[in-house]
Amino acid sequence: MRTHILVTGGAGFIGSNFIRFLLAQRPGVRVTNLDSLTYSGNLENLTGIDADPRYRFVKGDICDDAAVSPLVAQADAVVHFAAESHVDRSILDSRPFVVTNVMGTQTLLDACRRAWAGNADRRFLYVSTDEVYGSLPLDRPELKFTEETPLQTNSPYSASKAAGDLLARAYHHTFKMSVLTTRCSNNFGPYQFPEKVIPLFVTNLIEGKQVPLYGDGLNVRDWIHVDDHSDGVLCVLERGRPGEVYNLGGNNERSNLELTHAILALMGKGPEMIRPVADRPGHDRRYAIDATKALRELGWTPTRSAWPAALERTVRWYADNPTWWRRVKSGAYREYYAKQYGGG
Ligand code: NAD
Ligand code: TYD
Repeated sequence: MRTHILVTGGAGFIGSNFIRFLLAQRPGVRVTNLDSLTYSGNLENLTGIDADPRYRFVKGDICDDAAVSPLVAQADAVVHFAAESHVDRSILDSRPFVVTNVMGTQTLLDACRRAWAGNADRRFLYVSTDEVYGSLPLDRPELKFTEETPLQTNSPYSASKAAGDLLARAYHHTFKMSVLTTRCSNNFGPYQFPEKVIPLFVTNLIEGKQVPLYGDGLNVRDWIHVDDHSDGVLCVLERGRPGEVYNLGGNNERSNLELTHAILALMGKGPEMIRPVADRPGHDRRYAIDATKALRELGWTPTRSAWPAALERTVRWYADNPTWWRRVKSGAYREYYAKQYGGG
């Protein structure tokens, strides 16, 4: 078992969930969380964990080799979540995406190459996304992304993630580093930044605001609960084959319209709360993951993602934790929201 794990981006939605999951599942591990605390990084996501003696937080940027190199040298594994993660922001300004998702990943990989000097026991896991595969048509429901599907990115976000994904592959191939890659579908659960559709819609409805539905609302996403994603990342980290890619998905495809009506029903609201807005430029139509490889090789299945129970638990979490999201939705976030949706 790996005993000292460096997690990047551990103050974000999925990274913080993974740290909680890891410390609960593996009593013998120590975790260092490297995070620069961008707008989406929030140490309140780790409440309760910060006092654990096995956990340490370091504020730093993954693009800064002086911050990264000593931490990598102490770790037996790196689990790399840190990223600019929101498609709409990448349409407003793609530069931070290239800086963090490409240059930051290169900085980390190179620090590992130098510090680990060919030690194949040390592992680097790149948390990629199903968005690197591009978009599936709505009229071919039998099609799903497999690990062999060519990368065909459509947004600056997915293009920058694919660049990191391919760099990680190259470091395995060229330097024989033990690199693993996961490509997961859309996550939901507690502590998700309320720019993403589920927490945005739930918190808007609690605030009495309408929910902005893009285009015709027929775009499809494959929803996975974040606990299942964390479980999948740990399975791949411990038992995955170096150099391999593993798809992770919730087997839970829903159109945005279906998702919106499910949220409205859970919250006792009517369809008048939907505000149709202009479509996202380049909006990917459908994502669907075939996760057979993770099941076959690692015995991983998404057991916590089934609807409606998982969605209901998530809606309840936001209803029960207004202090967390009200603080997050104030401040700099308000400027983004005004730019994106043209109003408060
Ligand atoms: P998030 O935006 O909630 O968190 C990102 C974290 O990275 C934040 O804590 C932020 O402060 C940190 N960070 C950003 N730039 C940094 C830098 N230069 N140096 C150090 N830290 C930095 O994102 P998330 O939704 O938790 O996504 C985490 C990872 O999972 C990303 O790599 C994303 O591409 C991937 N992913 C997300 C989803 C999803 O549905 N959210 C699905 C598949 C894959
Ligand atoms: P999002 O949560 O941004 O994830 P991603 O773009 O990475 O899939 O969006 C999920 C879906 O919801 C996507 O098809 C876009 C749509 N959407 C809306 O209709 N309205 C919104 O305000 C947002 C943020 C997303």
